[in-house]
Amino acid sequence: MAKDESTAFLQKVYAAKDNRDLEAAYDQWAEKYDAHVTAFGYTIPAVAAGLLGKYVAPETTPVLDAGAGTGLMGAILDALGFRGQVGIDMSRGMLDKASARGVYKDLNQMVLGETLDFPSDHFGACQSMGVFTAGHAPAVAFDELVRVVRPDGCIVFSLLEDVYAPKGYKDKFEALENDGQWQLVEKTKPFPGLPLEDPDLMHRVYVFRVC
Ligand SMILES: C[S@@+](CC[C@H](N)C(=O)[O-])C[C@H]1O[C@@H](n2cnc3c(N)ncnc32)[C@H](O)[C@@H]1O
Repeated sequence: MAKDESTAFLQKVYAAKDNRDLEAAYDQWAEKYDAHVTAFGYTIPAVAAGLLGKYVAPETTPVLDAGAGTGLMGAILDALGFRGQVGIDMSRGMLDKASARGVYKDLNQMVLGETLDFPSDHFGACQSMGVFTAGHAPAVAFDELVRVVRPDGCIVFSLLEDVYAPKGYKDKFEALENDGQWQLVEKTKPFPGLPLEDPDLMHRVYVFRVC
């Protein structure tokens, strides 16, 4: 595999200047995304699967995959017995790949950070991996995720450590906690999400419970 090509795609998505740019970059990456992130040693799905297994029963339905991409996480949850998953993503190209896996009940093009076209308290849980990172979904997106997940449901997501305070996630997490909208259940220690590509890019996976 051409290492330069995979690195170029990663740099392109991190450097996207707005949502349009990011969507176009993922549309172009969709075909080779799985092969590239596998070569990067993408660890987040494994960590996430452990936490989802711990806090979210497979009978929980529907589960929202926010920023589903090509459906890597959906395929893992399907293997663990989750049914009726719903995925959203800004990139039609990525959603087409996710659709081909046949593990989602529904897939829709939506943008995290904008109003989501779902009723309140619709989902039993939400997971979002690799989406809250440099130049991707903003902290304000959590207002809508908290709205669409039922009380007692978990929101499990990864976050790049570098953006936690500088991009407003720390403030948003504290505001939602202080407003009584969610409670922290567990967060991992920082770990490299793409260890074979950039071992210095540290992520955590968080589990919050909606109140
Ligand atoms: C690194 S990929 C992760 C995909 C999948 N969750 C995984 O773990 O393989 C990030 C995904 O988030 C999507 N994304 C980024 N920002 C988004 C936003 N604001 N709203 C919706 N999707 C977004 C991208 O289109 C891309 O498919």
